[in-house]
Amino acid sequence: MTVCRPKLWKYLSITLSFVLAAQLLSGAFSRKFDPLAYVMSVHQRIPWKIWNESLQASSETYQMGNGAETSAQEGTQDSSLLSKEKPLCPPVPPYLAGRLTINRTAPSLEELERTHPELEPGGRYRPAECRARHRVAIVIPYRDRAQHLSVFLFHMHPVLQRQQLDYDIYIIEQAGSGKFNRAMLMNVGALESLKQYPYDCFIFHDIDLLPEDDRNLYTCPEQPRHMSIAVDTLNYKLPYENIFGGVSALTVDQFKQVNGFSNSFWGWGGEDDDMSHRVRYYGFFLSRYPAHIGRYTMLSHNKDAPNPERFDKLYNGEKRFKTDGINSIKYKVLDIQLRRLFTWVHVELYPS
Ligand code: BGC
Ligand code: MN
Repeated sequence: MTVCRPKLWKYLSITLSFVLAAQLLSGAFSRKFDPLAYVMSVHQRIPWKIWNESLQASSETYQMGNGAETSAQEGTQDSSLLSKEKPLCPPVPPYLAGRLTINRTAPSLEELERTHPELEPGGRYRPAECRARHRVAIVIPYRDRAQHLSVFLFHMHPVLQRQQLDYDIYIIEQAGSGKFNRAMLMNVGALESLKQYPYDCFIFHDIDLLPEDDRNLYTCPEQPRHMSIAVDTLNYKLPYENIFGGVSALTVDQFKQVNGFSNSFWGWGGEDDDMSHRVRYYGFFLSRYPAHIGRYTMLSHNKDAPNPERFDKLYNGEKRFKTDGINSIKYKVLDIQLRRLFTWVHVELYPS
């Protein structure tokens, strides 16, 4: 008996350590790695709060209304902004449908063009019945996704019009077959769109994400907004707290203040985490709608191989915020066309 006791304890403690290890591992794998939280913990920063927008909705619309008034008085030449004849659109758009049906197929671009006679060249729209409160450039990084383009446009134009926005859709296509640089394309879209029209709000949007609810307003609130917070392929859950990918909204001023996106993320991943870091570094924080509003369907596509350098870039990001962005970007616009349903910018990107 005296010989057996220590053995029993040994077996018990081995079993217990196995159980503990299994628990720890399953915990670690059930949540996705949050790269920014990691960077922050290394830099010993205080965790930041995510602003729940359900509490803020009314002050946002009020403020955005004032913003539109002020910038109109600040001397833009656009007659619809200066005109006092039309009333300002209501803070809450009256035509919203709520939950939407999602079509993963769409008519051809030619057919779609025929169903949108209301659009001005370049896919421009502004409500006929009132003065829009928001001038929004929807910026889409693009390459080789013809099958998604028509589905996206088919879904989005009606949503944006029900939201009574003064908007345009910019498709920013990267030339050549080098590594895709999503962040640089978004920088290009922002800079080029401002040459076309005095926008006050940018929405950066993956072409494969379709909003499932039109109460998810494509506007820019006081704080940068992460919009695609509940995606079907991620079980409608945020994979990690600081995520800022998919669809995000920044005012033109906020975007300029953070020096836009980094130009150094070639290949998949990390550029949105770097923007999340910039936003926070400059004293902003992410705002989000409730999860039942910020729902999206993702269209299927082959996944790019992740960029193995992204963690290094992210970790050293802070050193480059002031020198790596819209103030240092190198690109050449090969073509810009005002098509019927969108503005197309074909661009060559250069490392800076
Ligand atoms: C990447 C991000 C991406 C996110 C969600 C992260 O690991 O760094 O760029 O948006 O995963 O897929
Ligand atoms: Mn995608």
